[in-house]
Formats: sequence, C-alpha cells, structure tokens
Amino acid sequence: MMRSILLLTLLSASVAQAADAVDAGAARKLYDKSCMACHAAKFGGDGSSVFTRPDHKVHDLKQLQARVTGCSMKTNAGWFPSDEATVAAWLNQTYYKFR
Ligand code: HEC
Repeated sequence: MMRSILLLTLLSASVAQAADAVDAGAARKLYDKSCMACHAAKFGGDGSSVFTRPDHKVHDLKQLQARVTGCSMKTNAGWFPSDEATVAAWLNQTYYKFR
C-alpha cells in the first residue's frame, strides 16, 4: 500500500518534471520534419488548428501520448519513445495545456 502510493507520487512528479523541462527546440524540429506538412495541407495555415479546433480528438495527456506514438509509427518517423514523449510534452505545453 505504502509502496504504491510512493510509486504514484514519483510517477506524477516525473511527468510534471518532463512537462516543465520540455526541449521545445528539439520537439519543434522533430514535429516540423515528420508531422507538420500533412497537418498544414489538411487543416491550412501551419496546421496547428488540428490541435485547437473545437472538436479536437485528444482530451487528456494519455490520449495525447497515444496519438503521438500512433502517428509517429504510422508515418515511419523513426522516433524513439523519448522523441515521442518530447513532442507530446511540447504539444501539451503549446496547445492543449492539460494538467
Ligand atoms: C499523412 C498526414 C499526417 C501526418 C504525416 C501526421 N498527421 Fe497528425 N493528424 C492528421 C489528421 C488528418 C488528423 C486529424 C484526424 C482526425 O480528425 O481524426 C491528425 C491529428 C493529429 C492529432 C490529434 C489532434 C486532435 O484532434 O486533438 C495529433 C496529436 C497528431 N495528429 C499528431 C501528429 C504527429 C506527432 C505527427 C508526426 C509524427 C503527425 N500527427 C503526422 C494527419 C497527419
């Protein structure tokens, strides 16, 4: 019981830390290379309205992480899990702002 509480505390602390310390430069580079053009073609402008449209599909951090992982695999971006985490944290910080 105590152990699982401790583990949960540690987990949420590291998620919060990852969000605080997001490497925006690295994230943007990854995103621009593998994702941006298609979003821009489909949604216009720089494509970021895919994240901000009123009926956007992602509603929490878990869905965001899953979506980024799914898209990076589907597009053969060749990202490591750490790249996916960086981009998910950056998208959250920039657009979604989930807590
Ligand atoms: C071939 C085109 C294409 C590429 C490449 C692409 N996406 Fe997307 N993405 C879409 C489309 C279309 C949607 C909207 C799908 C929908 O409405 O269900 C979308 C939606 C998303 C969403 C959810 C937005 C919401 O509704 O909240 C995320 C997050 C996302 N993409 C991330 C990425 C990431 C990260 C990459 C790069 C690894 C990527 N996408 C590459 C076409 C693409």
